[in-house]
Amino acid sequence: MQHKILIIDDDCDFVDATKLLLEAHDYQVLTANNGQEGFHKVKKELPDLILLDMMMTYKTEGAETAKAIAADAAVKDIPIIMITGARKEHSFSFELKPDNDKLPIKAIMEKPVDPEDLIKKISFFLSKKSSEHYENLSMIEQLIKKWEGKEGNLIMVLHEVENHYGYIPRDVSFDLSRCLGIPLARIYEVISFYHYFKLEKPGKHVISVCMGTACYLKGSPQLLKEIKNILNIEEGEVTKDGMFQLSSVRCLGCCGLAPVIMIDGKIYGNLKPGDLLEIISKYNNQTVNVA
Ligand code: FES
Repeated sequence: MQHKILIIDDDCDFVDATKLLLEAHDYQVLTANNGQEGFHKVKKELPDLILLDMMMTYKTEGAETAKAIAADAAVKDIPIIMITGARKEHSFSFELKPDNDKLPIKAIMEKPVDPEDLIKKISFFLSKKSSEHYENLSMIEQLIKKWEGKEGNLIMVLHEVENHYGYIPRDVSFDLSRCLGIPLARIYEVISFYHYFKLEKPGKHVISVCMGTACYLKGSPQLLKEIKNILNIEEGEVTKDGMFQLSSVRCLGCCGLAPVIMIDGKIYGNLKPGDLLEIISKYNNQTVNVA
């Protein structure tokens, strides 16, 4: 399978030289010379990897394009290698750092880019993707065979994918679109219509804070605030290391123990904010914020 790489850069010399290099390594290459055109091509062509220039018409154009990609569910997991000639300038780290964890930037390379290093990085990110991709494909083929010709088969296939991964990975949606001949936009329409389907990988440990009336009156908002502090995440988010997911729920059915939280199905009751660090630390010592 020939991988598709999109170069978004306004430096024609760099684009021409990199295109030649990548084609010589059997990659299909697409190009765009600004962030807007680049984002349009990302959506239309669904490349396997993006080389994105940091500074184009204006100095944060690359970062803003990366943010737009990260905000779009259909393309947010496409790996990006950020290319820059401005890394030594303060603006670069300043602009990228705040949201860097949420952007799909896998590597940052400075111009002049070492061709050998670039090819090494690209093949690393794509081969990693390929092994997952083949696993996905064989599972999808089996699911399609199982539900072929049956009414509502897309939803049934999505349910099985959700049960298998715990969410619907973007690559799987993409493969489903190809294998079933259904537009990707239609698949995302279905996924976003049903609350059951998730687009984000769930955390290893799920913490649910009860916000039912009894728990609320006995202090669950303070528990929620303290957990957010400890894990440094908001409700609905997963910690950076994927260990914890935080959510709130309505009445866990044990109001006599209010206020209550549940971690992976285990109930902790009669809690005070000061009890939480110790409880959460039992599940993982790395993630918690002890400061
Ligand atoms: S209100 Fe929290 S367990 Fe019932």
